[in-house]
Amino acid sequence: MTEEVAAIAVNGVQKRYGKLTVLRDVTLEVAPGEIFTLLGANGAGKSTLIKLLTTLAQPDGGSIRVQGCDPVTQGGRVRRVIGLNAQAETLDDTVSGRANLRLVATLLGLADPQQAIAAVAKRLDLDAFLDRRVATYSGGMRRRLDLAMSLLGNPAVLFLDEPTTGVDPQNRLALWALIRELRDGGTTIFLTTQYLDEADALADRIAFMREGRIVKVGTPAQIKQAAVPTFALTVAAGQAEAAKAALAEHQLPYQLAGDVFTLAAAVAPQALAVLAPRLVVTGYVPNAVTLESVYLAVTKEAKHAHA
Ligand SMILES: Nc1ncnc2c1ncn2[C@@H]1O[C@H](COP(=O)(O)OP(=O)(O)OP(=O)(O)O)[C@@H](O)[C@H]1O
Ligand SMILES: [Mg+2]
Repeated sequence: MTEEVAAIAVNGVQKRYGKLTVLRDVTLEVAPGEIFTLLGANGAGKSTLIKLLTTLAQPDGGSIRVQGCDPVTQGGRVRRVIGLNAQAETLDDTVSGRANLRLVATLLGLADPQQAIAAVAKRLDLDAFLDRRVATYSGGMRRRLDLAMSLLGNPAVLFLDEPTTGVDPQNRLALWALIRELRDGGTTIFLTTQYLDEADALADRIAFMREGRIVKVGTPAQIKQAAVPTFALTVAAGQAEAAKAALAEHQLPYQLAGDVFTLAAAVAPQALAVLAPRLVVTGYVPNAVTLESVYLAVTKEAKHAHA
């Protein structure tokens, strides 16, 4: 990266739990004021990487810098400049939201806790329920309070581990707006999500993680550009077998799901030339290249690699 010092720099990081290798040679950089989004299946290693970046676990190899500091040897300094919204929330159910925020404000040693609490409450629209016991909160309210706790210290780097899981569409859009606003104010955001539309809408850059490795990094547009465009083709009922035979005969690669043939756009004209004279082609439509199509392709590569 050519800009100033990276907000996050990860180099060749390894992490094992017993015999299980969870992170393999992870290398990435996040620029200051960037929304960086990590995507990957359950168990890919996303939360583990966040734990290493936020001093909650130690790497077995490689190096990490957060705002220029090493989480292993300068944990205190790292903790002072980050905020963490963990996947497992850390709320005290038995007291009010305000009491939860007060506790964090005390831990952070904030000069004016009351003012800081009022500011995050306004920002996340918590006032209607802030003085109720957390045990009475809905899932979305809990998520918002948990997010407020991670924002109290005005962190330079904010880690959000699946922040919109279980949040209703309206509040999800409000959270997206908040995340963008934080980014525009200079905060660096490191986000994980299971929602590809969320990554597409929010991320300045995306990384796909698979089995502890980063397998693709780029802007949403770059990632979509790298995808091979495809066509969907259908033939009349009862003609699928004949179509398969004709495509195979002319060595035109295809995938068949239900009764829909998917072909690379590059070979689609040839396929049409082969099929149209003999069969009734009932549909011939370009597939939109979405992040999801790339994500699924990357996942498929993995399966083949292991076969
Ligand atoms: N403390 C631990 N001890 C042993 N294994 C662990 C520990 N924490 C995580 N793992 C394992 O490491 C792997 C990666 O877990 P991690 O929580 O990082 O995945 P993730 O990508 O965040 O998944 P999800 O999308 O489900 O949140 C999993 O196989 C998990 O079982
Ligand atoms: Mg996780």
